[in-house]
Amino acid sequence: MKILLGITGGIAAYKSLELTRLFVKTGHQVQVVMTSGAKAFIQPLSFQALSGNPVRDSLFDCHQEAGMGHIELARWADQIVIAPASAETLAKLRMGRADDLLTTLCLATEKPIMVAPAMNRLMWSNKATQENVQILKQRGFEVLDPEEGKQACGEVGAGRMPEPQAIFEHTMNAQQQRQHLEQRLLDVRAFWQNRSILITAGPTIEDIDPVRFIGNRSSGKMGFALAEAAQKLGANVTLIAGPVQISSPPTIKRIDVRSADQMFHAVQQHYAGKDVFISAAAVADFKVAQKSVKKIKKQAQEEGLLLSLVKNVDIVAWVAEQENKPFVVGFAAETDHVLEYAKEKLKRKKLDAIIANEVGEGAKGFESNRNCVTLITKDGLQAFEEASKKQLGFQLLDAISSLGFNKTSVCN
Ligand code: PMT
Repeated sequence: MKILLGITGGIAAYKSLELTRLFVKTGHQVQVVMTSGAKAFIQPLSFQALSGNPVRDSLFDCHQEAGMGHIELARWADQIVIAPASAETLAKLRMGRADDLLTTLCLATEKPIMVAPAMNRLMWSNKATQENVQILKQRGFEVLDPEEGKQACGEVGAGRMPEPQAIFEHTMNAQQQRQHLEQRLLDVRAFWQNRSILITAGPTIEDIDPVRFIGNRSSGKMGFALAEAAQKLGANVTLIAGPVQISSPPTIKRIDVRSADQMFHAVQQHYAGKDVFISAAAVADFKVAQKSVKKIKKQAQEEGLLLSLVKNVDIVAWVAEQENKPFVVGFAAETDHVLEYAKEKLKRKKLDAIIANEVGEGAKGFESNRNCVTLITKDGLQAFEEASKKQLGFQLLDAISSLGFNKTSVCN
C-alpha cells in the first residue's frame, strides 16, 4: 500500500518515526509530508532516512512541485494517515483550508484519510475541536480517539496520540475492510447486472372532489433511493411513482401516477418478466366511493360531511398471487409492534420478504432523509442501523441479493 504520512506540530511527532518504521518494515511505501509546526518538533531527515523518500514540506517548492505536485502526491497515495493531527490541522481540514501542502493535498484527494489527534486535554475537549471532529467524521474521515494519560504539558487527561502499533493496526484493518467492501460491491453488482426490477414509491392520492383529497406523508425518498441504487448496480429499473417532488435519472424508466387505481394499473402492465418487485409506495387503503365532480359546498353540509370509503386493491398482495410473479418485497409502515405487525403482513400478503420501518411521531420512516429498517423473511430477520435512505438503498439490495430468487413464496 502507498501511505502518505502527514506529520503536524505536536510533541507526539517523534512517535511517528516508529509508525514509519512499522509501515516500511511490512512492505508498504511511505511518503512523509510535514507541516512547519511538525518541523519545530522533529527533523525531516529522520523521516527521510526511515521512509527512504525525501520529506515533502512545502506547497511552493519549485523543485519538488515540478517533480511531483501536490495533485500527483494526492493521487499517488492509497491511504493518508495524519499522525499526530494537531488542533490547528483538524480545524483547517474542517474549513477546507489549503495553505500548506498537507491540507491542500487532503482537499485534492478522494482517498481515505485517517487522523490521530494529539493535543492538550483542554484543547481536545474544547467544543470547537469536538465540533471539527464530528464534522470530519460525517465527511468520512476516520478519527482515532486519543488516549488518556499523563501529557507532555504535565496535565492528565485525554489527548495523547495512540501508540504507533495501534495506529498501524487501525490502518491495516481499515484497508482490509475496504477491500472486503469493494469485493462485496463487485459481487452485488454482478448479481444485479441486467436484472429487471419494478419499484413503487411515494404516496397515492385519492380525490374527494376537484380540490380535496386523501393523501399521506410519503415523500418517495425511500423508493427513489432503492431505484437509484438498483440502477447504479446495473439493474434495469422501472419506477412507478405517486405524486412526489423528486427527480430521477433518465436511465430509470419512470411512470407517474396519482391514485391507487392508477398505480395498480401501471403495476399490472409492468410486473411481468421482472425479477423483483419492491413495493415501497404508501398506497392508500381506501378511496372515496363516489368522487364528486364539483367542489363540495360546505354550506350544504350543515350536519358535517360523511364520506363513504371503499377498499383499494392491495397491489403487492395481487402481484404475490400471480403465477409468474417476481420475487416480491413489501414494506411495512407501523407506529407500534413494528416487527410483529410486519411479520403478520409478510404472511397474509404472501410476500417473499418485507422491510419493516417505524413511522409516526419521532420516527424517521416518512419524509426524513434517513430511516431505520429491518428486513424480514420467513427464515429470520436482519436489522440495519439507522442510515440515510440512499445508503439503505444499497444495503437492502445487497441483502435482497443474498436471499436467492427461487420465485416461490417463502411464507406459505
Ligand atoms: O416515501 P418516504 O417518505 O421515504 O417514506 C418511506 C415509507 C415509510 C413510505 C416506506 O418506507 C414504507 O414503509 N412504505 C410502505 C408504506 C405502507 O403503505 O405500508 P403498509 O404497511 O400500509 O403496506 C404494506 C405493504 O403493502 C407495502 O409494501 C405497501 O406498498 C403495500 N400496499 C398497501 C396497500 C395497498 N392497497 N396496496 C399495496 O401494495
